[in-house]
Amino acid sequence: MSQYFDHRKEYQLLPGLANHARADLGPVRTPLQPAKRLGDELGIELYIKRDDSQPLGMGGNKVRQLEFYLGPALQQHADTVLITGAIQSNFVRLCAAACRKLGLEPVVQLEDRVPTNDPVYQSSGNVLLDQLYGAEIHYLPEGEDEKLADAKLDSLALDLKKQGRNPYVVHLGTEHPPLGSLGYALSVAELKIQTREQNISATHLVTPSGSGITHSGVLAGVKALDWSIKVEGICVRRETPLQQPRIEKRASEAASLLGIDPITPESVRTYDDVLAPGYGQLNQRVEQAIKKAARLEGILVDPVYSGRTLAGLIKLVEQGQIAQGSCVVFIHTGGAPALFAYQNKLNFL
Ligand SMILES: Cc1ncc(COP(=O)(O)O)c(C=O)c1O
Repeated sequence: MSQYFDHRKEYQLLPGLANHARADLGPVRTPLQPAKRLGDELGIELYIKRDDSQPLGMGGNKVRQLEFYLGPALQQHADTVLITGAIQSNFVRLCAAACRKLGLEPVVQLEDRVPTNDPVYQSSGNVLLDQLYGAEIHYLPEGEDEKLADAKLDSLALDLKKQGRNPYVVHLGTEHPPLGSLGYALSVAELKIQTREQNISATHLVTPSGSGITHSGVLAGVKALDWSIKVEGICVRRETPLQQPRIEKRASEAASLLGIDPITPESVRTYDDVLAPGYGQLNQRVEQAIKKAARLEGILVDPVYSGRTLAGLIKLVEQGQIAQGSCVVFIHTGGAPALFAYQNKLNFL
């Protein structure tokens, strides 16, 4: 729980965290590394915050978020955790891993969010790992209705209660508090310390913007630290007209969880230029970004989240919205297991 971490410097930068239970998923301070070859090609100074390198279950941003979802689950003495996500969800895979680490039973619901019948997509990558973790898997033939997805989880939880179990639900919908964003405020505090230690004067922070838990936590962290850095959110799920108000709401909720003032709407920046044709579907820019990261830096980014976010960063530089010579931190949120699920769709020749 949270009190185990009070000694960490980054924790002390965010006093509001002390009010929130945190399960220990063994996170590490992830490296902040220069990406010189890719940065030189783009004409910027580029650093990568390697949140893909968390030790649990092949890592990723969801480890930090799950600590704050599963803290309350442990407080409530839950024995089972339910979660919903896309078929190739990293959140689901990491929740199953976290459950196993904490001695809980994972029940997962996989939603049909991506229009494909490719058997590799349906069974490889994260699905293979869900099975390895022994998660009880349910399917939902629908992927756009968060309330429906949550209602199905609640009904599965009710059935479990009737059998004498004590389930805890990690909800997706925006009517539930964005507890996971606390993990990203903490990541930003860690990053601020690292930039000071490494003498880096970052001007932009580039993050994926999906459910918005990461993006809103980053915004809340930046505000709590009074850091004058621009946060660029790259839309990976919804277009700007939907994502912008979603992040404004979630970021202010995250700020409230931290006990700080609400986020001003002007600091919320969402870009959807590389989203087409839609969530989880490749486009040429995403493929090029995946290839560039691999061939210039030896780094793996994925087709759904981190590859799309890198594609968004590259487009912002090309458009001059991130000026030449800027100092940019790309938050690498992981997702590489999905590369295997997309093997029939990627074309690197
Ligand atoms: C690897 C990866 N990166 C980024 C995201 C988007 O983060 P968020 O849902 O917090 O917006 C996800 C979400 O599942 C993810 O799995």
